[in-house]
Amino acid sequence: VVTAKIAPSMLSSDFANLASEAERMIRLGADWLHMDIMDGHFVPNLTIGAPVIESLRKHTKAYLDCHLMVTNPIDYVEPLAKAGASGFTFHLEVSKENWKEIIQGIKLKGMRPGVALKPGTPIEEVYPLVESENPVEMVLVMTVEPGFGGQKFMPEMMDKVRALRKKFPHLDIEVDGGLGPSTIDAAAAAGANCIVAGSSVFGAEEPAQVISALRKSVEG
Ligand code: DX5
Ligand code: ZN
Repeated sequence: VVTAKIAPSMLSSDFANLASEAERMIRLGADWLHMDIMDGHFVPNLTIGAPVIESLRKHTKAYLDCHLMVTNPIDYVEPLAKAGASGFTFHLEVSKENWKEIIQGIKLKGMRPGVALKPGTPIEEVYPLVESENPVEMVLVMTVEPGFGGQKFMPEMMDKVRALRKKFPHLDIEVDGGLGPSTIDAAAAAGANCIVAGSSVFGAEEPAQVISALRKSVEG
């Protein structure tokens, strides 16, 4: 049995009401809350950082799945751990020299390590991080160029998901960007089990139905 983790992207929520939006998503069936941390440098957008995670943590016990779209992920390990982050997913493109150190820091601080790949990064580049004696526990395959919600799903990224699933049957594989009722079947069939969805969930009239449809596609 595959376990689905449905993670609404809080980037599509009303940031001025973050606590109640988080509570609402958990009530409507979400497993995780996906938190997009952008530094205005790795991506051309600026969102939130450790202070907002710390504030939100006071209002929820939910798993905070933090996606670090920043140039210097190592600098965020300690502040985010203190703030109460659960998962810490850094981008491989900026971590080629120090991923071992980053993973070690994340685990030492009690968070769960993941690594993310932009659409242009070949999947083979992530294998050493999964095969390492101190491995990442999740790989995030981006299905849009990181930076903004509401973009179009890139189906050609499913080759990467398939290759990863074939090689690592038990790995958590997350997809992020353009996921919703019309694209989930492709992602689930390729082997993704952690599903980030921003605009499709927050833009829906019945977000609970979208969340349960995503789950059904993954779990069968
Ligand atoms: C994009 C972010 C995503 C984004 C997804 O850079 O990493 O998490 O919020 O939003 P949708 O689901 O609208 O593509
Ligand atoms: Zn994200």
